Amino acid sequence: MRFEGKRVLVTGAASGIGRATAVLMANEGAELFIADVNKDGLSETAELAAGSPTIIVYDASNTESCKELIAEVTQDGGLDILCNIAGVLDWGPTLDFDDERFDRIMRINLSGTFALNRAVLPHLIESKGNIVNMASAAALQGVAYTAAYAASKHGVAGITKSLAVEFADRGVRVNAVCPGHVNTPMGNKAPPEGDIVWEKVMRNAPKLIEGTCEPEDIAEMVAYLASDKARKVTGSLFTIDGGQLAG
Ligand SMILES: NC(=O)c1ccc[n+]([C@@H]2O[C@H](COP(=O)([O-])OP(=O)(O)OC[C@H]3O[C@@H](n4cnc5c(N)ncnc54)[C@H](O)[C@@H]3O)[C@@H](O)[C@H]2O)c1
Repeated sequence: MRFEGKRVLVTGAASGIGRATAVLMANEGAELFIADVNKDGLSETAELAAGSPTIIVYDASNTESCKELIAEVTQDGGLDILCNIAGVLDWGPTLDFDDERFDRIMRINLSGTFALNRAVLPHLIESKGNIVNMASAAALQGVAYTAAYAASKHGVAGITKSLAVEFADRGVRVNAVCPGHVNTPMGNKAPPEGDIVWEKVMRNAPKLIEGTCEPEDIAEMVAYLASDKARKVTGSLFTIDGGQLAG
């Protein structure tokens, strides 16, 4: 029961890694708030989680919506932990990748992370709490046909480390998880149209036999970083990728 007495917000909780994290946190005693743009998915997650998590719909691409989410969560109490997991993947040949697609990824994955982290920090200073952001193996390496997503996740890594330095002396820890391929709707999305040289994409395939992670594998790492067991960990980018980045 690592999260007994803790108020925890999980974004991206309508699906995949966010859902698995929400269920784990609730099972370990958290007072849970789950947020996503997908209301129906949140209701399904709430049925799987212990207790009665509070459901809040928000849009990560909208700064005001991020601020309102934090205001709603903290109106009748503070917050101890933010698991910032919402995100989108879009990839394909760069010469066909227009500004609109690039901007959408940046707004949701990067600006959304900044807006939510900034809004929550005053509350985490109060509670001496922590943030776990969801980066990616693509935060630490280049991935062919994936410049926009990789840029957004390199940005999440930059935000994570910078905030860790800025807020360490106020008792707030900020870390990120960098998953490789995960068995979720995003991870199993059909490949894009266009000329893809798969050899380039597969340069960084998992090395373990059956190296694809399950959402529950990632949730375990999020939970560790969010827990008091990780009290000495901040500014870290934890990879969990079946050896994708090993060499
Ligand atoms: N699946 C993978 O292989 C993989 C690998 C590395 C990192 N990640 C990261 O993990 C996180 C979760 O991904 P997942 O694999 O569980 O995908 P998923 O598609 O199953 O879940 C993503 C969730 O984010 C929500 N979301 C999307 N846009 C939103 C918005 N504008 N506002 C609020 N919520 C929004 C979706 O509704 C969905 O519930 C993402 O940040 C993703 O980039 C995934």
